[in-house]
Amino acid sequence: MVTSISEGIILKSAREVALMRQAGRIVAEVLQLLMEAVCPGIATKDLDEIARREIRARGALPSFEGYRGYPAAVCVSVNDEVVHGIPGGRVLAEGDVVSLDLGAIYKGYQGDAALTVGIGSLSFDAKRLIEATEEGLKRGIAAARPGGRVGDISAAVQGYIEAQGFSVVREYVGHGIGRNMHEEPQVPNFGQPGRGPMLRAGTTLAIEPMVNAGDWRTRVGDNHWTVYTLDGSLSAHFEHTIAVTEDGPEVLTVA
Ligand code: MF3
Ligand code: CO
Repeated sequence: MVTSISEGIILKSAREVALMRQAGRIVAEVLQLLMEAVCPGIATKDLDEIARREIRARGALPSFEGYRGYPAAVCVSVNDEVVHGIPGGRVLAEGDVVSLDLGAIYKGYQGDAALTVGIGSLSFDAKRLIEATEEGLKRGIAAARPGGRVGDISAAVQGYIEAQGFSVVREYVGHGIGRNMHEEPQVPNFGQPGRGPMLRAGTTLAIEPMVNAGDWRTRVGDNHWTVYTLDGSLSAHFEHTIAVTEDGPEVLTVA
């Protein structure tokens, strides 16, 4: 097999994209189960147990577990937690805004996806934040066309999110993905169209807007993992693994 590399980006063959589609389906299926399990009274560690069990039941391995010492299969980030919430004894409650981020490795290839779900009735602005983040991801994905550039994705996300009155996190970004969870290029959720590395058929990316209701700045908590909004505002996170094809973007993390 000849590996093709463009501007540091490892381009995947059709065979490799097919394997990433399988990894992506597993991530999407398990994420769906986790979303359905979210309810008042469940502990975040119970979600982690479901994630570990269901990923393994599908012949895959949790990719987050042990990654740079991360201790769980899933990230559960609640309310002002942006990303990298570690599952534990915290019990979820009505009104919580819960971001779930999951990765799996199947036959050597990675899938990575995230979504945010509210428990019970949310404030108008919390609902708007979640909807805007999901729509920002959709627009970022739509901008991932062959011959375009990474900055096209970044600008599509940022333009939409800021027009809604929210802010995009700067310190954490999306990424290339393939045999490794994190490959070139970085995919920021802010930037200018026409800038950055070129997108080609076979470019595989994890696009993942992290959106704060208030200021974009963040801080890392005492566990050295969990990222919080600096101003205490709510945050939401959606992510898909996608492949750029001759015909445009294909979302790989779908059931
Ligand atoms: N979606 C996140 C990322 O792309 C998940 C990484 S969490 C970690 O970076 F625990 F694995 F680090
Ligand atoms: Co990711």
